[in-house]
Amino acid sequence: MSTHALLVLYGSQTGTAQDTAERIGRQAQRRRMRVRVEALDSYNVANLISESLVVFVCATTGQGDPPDNMKTFWRFLFRKSLPADSLCRLDSAVLGLGDSSYPKFNFVAKKLHKRLLLLGANMLLPVGLADDQHDLGPDGVIDPWLISFWQKALSLYPPPAGLAPLREEEKLPPRYVFHFLDEVPDKQTEHLQTPDNKAPPTPLQPFPAGVVFNQRVTPPSHFQDVRHIEFDITGSNIQYSPGDVVMMRPCNAAEDVEQFCQLLKLGPERYFTLTPTDSSTAAVPAHLPQPCSVRFLVEQFLDISAVPRRSFFEVLATFATNELELDKLLEFSSAQGQDGLHSYCNRPHRTALEVLADFPHTTAELSIDCLLDLFPEIQPRSFSIASSLLQHPNRIQILVAVVKYKSMLFKPRKGLCSSWLASLDPSKGDVYVPLWVKKGSLSFPQDPDTPVIMVGPGTGVAPFRSAIQERAAQGKMANVLFFGCRSESKDFYCRSEWEEKVQAGQMILVTAFSRDQEEKIYVQHRVKEQSKLLWDLIAKKNAFFYIAGNAKQMPASVCDALKEVFQKEGGMSENQAQEMLDAMEKAKRFQSETWS
Ligand code: 2AM
Repeated sequence: MSTHALLVLYGSQTGTAQDTAERIGRQAQRRRMRVRVEALDSYNVANLISESLVVFVCATTGQGDPPDNMKTFWRFLFRKSLPADSLCRLDSAVLGLGDSSYPKFNFVAKKLHKRLLLLGANMLLPVGLADDQHDLGPDGVIDPWLISFWQKALSLYPPPAGLAPLREEEKLPPRYVFHFLDEVPDKQTEHLQTPDNKAPPTPLQPFPAGVVFNQRVTPPSHFQDVRHIEFDITGSNIQYSPGDVVMMRPCNAAEDVEQFCQLLKLGPERYFTLTPTDSSTAAVPAHLPQPCSVRFLVEQFLDISAVPRRSFFEVLATFATNELELDKLLEFSSAQGQDGLHSYCNRPHRTALEVLADFPHTTAELSIDCLLDLFPEIQPRSFSIASSLLQHPNRIQILVAVVKYKSMLFKPRKGLCSSWLASLDPSKGDVYVPLWVKKGSLSFPQDPDTPVIMVGPGTGVAPFRSAIQERAAQGKMANVLFFGCRSESKDFYCRSEWEEKVQAGQMILVTAFSRDQEEKIYVQHRVKEQSKLLWDLIAKKNAFFYIAGNAKQMPASVCDALKEVFQKEGGMSENQAQEMLDAMEKAKRFQSETWS
C-alpha cells in the first residue's frame, strides 16, 4: 500500500527548529505518512521541484538572519534566474520560530513564505509565527498551527484506507540501527585529525587546538569564576579579525556520563556503527565517528545535561510500561501539561539526566537504539575572541564566566560549556579542544584615523580586547573603552594590560565599578559624564560606537545615555537624537553584540 511522502526541512541555530521539525516528522509517521526530516543545507534544493508536500521550519537569528544550516539554500532560493512558476507543483507551508522582542521578528519565515508564493507554490496556510514571548511559549502558536496544517495536508494526502493513525504512546521505529562490533577498533578514529588541506576548520572538520593556559582571573573570594583561556591554533589555517567568534562543542561531565551509562546499563567501551533505518531517514549525523564508542556518543554527542524539551517526554512516553509514569509523561507532552512541565523542568533547570532518574521504570526500558531519537545533539557554543593575531600569533584567547547557580534543586546548576572549559587543565597533560572560527557580527573600521568607542561591561569586553590589541599593533591609537564591573579589586579583567596601553597612549579607559560605593555606577552613567569627549569623537571625528555584553537592560540604557549626549552636546531634540543613532546604525557606525 503506498503512503504519501512529506518532507520537513529546517533551518535551526540552537536546535529548537530542528526539534520542532522532528516533532512534525513523528506526527507524520503517526498519521501513516512516509517522512524525511532534513536540515535545509543537507538537502539538494534542486530536487524541490519534484517534491509534492514540504513543510519548512525556520528560525530567525540575530538581526533577521537565517540560521547557519540554511544559508546555502537561502542564497539559492533568491537567485534571480529561478523561473516564477518553478514550484507550481508543490504544496507547502512555512512555520517560523522567533522572538517578538527583536525588531525583525520571524523575518526569515515571512520572507520564505513570500518567496515560495512567488515561485508558484501552493501555500496550504498562512505562515506560522511562533514567538518565544507568547504566554504559552512558542507552542502557543505551533500547536494550533499544526492542527490546521494536518487538516489541510490530510485532506489533500489522505492516509491509505484501513490504516488507523498510531496512538501517542505507541512506539515508532528508531531512526538509526546500531551494529555493535566484537572488537575495539583503532582508537584513532575518534580523535579528530588535523586537517591536512589548506582550508580553515569547519563544524564538520574542527581543528584540535591545544589548551595552552586556563587561568582564573577573579580572586577565589569573588562569587564568579572567570577564566582566561588560550588555545594554540598553529597549523590550523585559521585567520580571524576582531569581532569574530570561536565555536566549540562542549562535553558532558565525566560523572554524568558514568551515571547515564549506569542508568541505561550501557558499556561505555563498546563500539558500534550506525545505519539509517530506511532510505527516508536523514543521513547519520556527520560528526559522529564511525565506528563510535558508547562513551563518545554519551560524552560528546547526546545533550543529556540540558533541560529537556517537551518532545523528550513525547518520545520517552512511548517506552513507559508503568502506568503512573506513562500518565505523567503523556501529560508533560500534551499542550495542557505545559505549565506543569515548566514547573517541573524549566523553573528548577532540571536536566534530562535527572528526569531519567525520576522515571526509573521507563528508563529501564530504554535501549541504545532510541537514544538518537530521544536526545538532541550537543549544540556548538560561541565565544567572542578576546585576542588579536597581531599580538598573539597562532593563538586564540577567550574570557569565560563559569556559569553556576542555585535552583530549588539540591545540586547547584552548572553551565555545560563554561564548566567543561574550566575543568580543562593543561598542567595535567595535553588537552585539545576541537574548534572553528566564525565571522562575528561586529566589524571595525579600516581607516586608521577613525576613532572607536567601545562599551563592554563584564565579559562583554572580550571582543574589544581583540580590537584594541589589533588596532594598537597597527598604530591606530583612537580607542576609548568603557569597562564596567562590580569592584576594582575583584573583577577588573585585564587591568594591567589596559594600564599599559593607557600609559602608551594607545587607549582611553573609563571604568564604572558598580559596587565599590553606596550608589550603583554603571557604564551608562560614565557615558553621560563623558559627553564632551563622545560628542567630539562622534560628531566631529566620525567615531564608531560599540556595545557588547550580557546584562539585559544594559544595551538599552547605554543607547539612552548616548542619545542624552547627542541632545546635550548637539542641541538636539529627542527625535533628532534617535534619528542620529538610527543613521549611525545604518552606516554600521553603531553596532552591538549582546547575549544572555
Ligand atoms: P551589578 O552586578 O552591580 O548590578 C558586569 O556584570 C557589570 O555590569 C557589573 O558591574 C554589573 O553591576 C553591571 N550591570 C548590571 N546590570 C546593568 C545594567 N542594567 N546596565 C549596566 N550595567 C549593568
